[in-house]
Amino acid sequence: MIDSSTKSLPIGVFDSGVGGLTVLKAVHEALPNEDLIYLGDTARLPYGTKSPTSISRYACQATQHLQQAGIKLLIVACNTASAVALDALREQMAPLPVIGVVEPGATAAVSACPAGSHLVLATEATVRLGAYRKAIEARDADASVREHACEMLVALAEEGWTNGDIATAIVRRYLDDAGGDADCVILGCTHFPLIREPIAAALSDKAVIVDSASTTAAVTAQTLAELDLANASSEPGTLTLWATDGATRFARVGGQFLGRALEPSDVTIVDL
Ligand code: DGL
Repeated sequence: MIDSSTKSLPIGVFDSGVGGLTVLKAVHEALPNEDLIYLGDTARLPYGTKSPTSISRYACQATQHLQQAGIKLLIVACNTASAVALDALREQMAPLPVIGVVEPGATAAVSACPAGSHLVLATEATVRLGAYRKAIEARDADASVREHACEMLVALAEEGWTNGDIATAIVRRYLDDAGGDADCVILGCTHFPLIREPIAAALSDKAVIVDSASTTAAVTAQTLAELDLANASSEPGTLTLWATDGATRFARVGGQFLGRALEPSDVTIVDL
């Protein structure tokens, strides 16, 4: 049930790993008074190569863990989990709201390039389901959409090899295989904002690059306002970081996504 005490609960943000910290950062900037709990399911990353059944099960378990802690809204900051499990998660969280990253990303793409050609770079699972294609076409009947799976970019971002010869060569190979440039290139995976530079360098100057972090933050702010769920406190919001494995790696890699240094002691390991 939603009542006035619900307003003071944190927002839950869930991803398969550390990539969703780019979304967390945008949400924190847009809503600095909200408490945030981030759960990265690092023990089971990557989700992008798994079956829809496993992805749904993992996402539901992670959500249950956040629900037990008490959250007022869930952000599924994982494109793959958003593509596969959003309906199941909405059912599980009801009547509380769930926001995925695919729809805000599609909205951002369509408003950046109306009637444009779009190239979605994402994981295998997201591409297999055509999640971005459906979301873009539902918003703009004149849009054309290509989707391409770029699994190796996840590993590059995890390794911190986000620039240089290797990143450049892999990005170019994926873009060639995808059929080249587009008006709008959508970073349809949480990890790809970190590889924005080599992606931009491989594209023509006219291509616009879009990711869903800031649009997701804007949708979150709007949803809280509409449901009267915004935190009434004027204190700065707290940030709690949970992972299912590897606090040291989470801190090292996650710091790059969050844009500030993290210590392993900032991360609590939880068991789902
Ligand atoms: N978080 C995933 C996504 O945005 C990328 C990493 C993974 O495959 O788990 O699709």
